Amino acid sequence: MELTAVIETRSLNKRFGGVVAADNVNFKVMHGEFRCMIGPNGAGKSTLFAMLCGIQSADSGQIFFFGQDVTRTQAFQRVRLGVGLTFQTNRAFHQLSVRENLTIPQASAKLENKEAGQARLEFALDAFGLDPNDETKAAELSHNQLQWLEIAMVLVGYPNLILLDEPTAGMAAEETQQTAKVLKHLNSTGLTTVVVEHDMAFVKDVAQVVTVLHQGRIFAEGTVTKITAHEDVRKIYLGRA
Ligand SMILES: Nc1ncnc2c1ncn2[C@@H]1O[C@H](COP(=O)(O)OP(=O)(O)OP(=O)(O)O)[C@@H](O)[C@H]1O
Ligand SMILES: [Mg+2]
Repeated sequence: MELTAVIETRSLNKRFGGVVAADNVNFKVMHGEFRCMIGPNGAGKSTLFAMLCGIQSADSGQIFFFGQDVTRTQAFQRVRLGVGLTFQTNRAFHQLSVRENLTIPQASAKLENKEAGQARLEFALDAFGLDPNDETKAAELSHNQLQWLEIAMVLVGYPNLILLDEPTAGMAAEETQQTAKVLKHLNSTGLTTVVVEHDMAFVKDVAQVVTVLHQGRIFAEGTVTKITAHEDVRKIYLGRA
């Protein structure tokens, strides 16, 4: 089988005034990969995700999704192409019920992926203990359940690719491990997964390859073993963890 890049960026640049959030980023993730992205606060991780899904536009450079140039494709159209994103701050609608939150993203469901997508969604709902018919308001859920609801909401769209920005933030070790287990299973079904994560135990558990961002640049990239042993990565990042 020919290897396909699910996402590829070429020389992506983004500034906010004097801040360089993306500096000539060439980022590539192959089909079926589980990639983690780490880096100090302000490194540009969330900005890169925002550009990948079309919420932020790049100043220059290109973004390809399954080989198709989506640099100028709007966010909602990228969702239709199969990009699913969760945000660093939870975006579930707190005044709506669990059922309603899971109903809204159905409109963007990528029907070509229905078979695989539905199985992934049902697996995640079950593993996270979420009931798709639950009329409880999201506001009444625990922090962990809210985080899990957001992952489930992304899966409702039957994506080909999921980008998760700190999905285990605020979770205790046990729930973090549970989340890792679910994401690993989803990935094993062929769902390409990219996760921004600060928790190195999580990264060691799930990642095949780790990308380190620093000051908007790809600072290092490689296996978890290579990255955790990398002197300069330790200096900029791991030293403080
Ligand atoms: N909308 C914006 N307007 C101005 N500056 C921004 C904006 N978004 C991000 N920045 C700046 O761009 C840089 C990269 O921010 P970004 O949120 O991408 O970092 P991050 O790696 O996700 O950090 P964290 O680990 O804290 O989530 C930071 O200096 C940030 O202050
Ligand atoms: Mg961020």
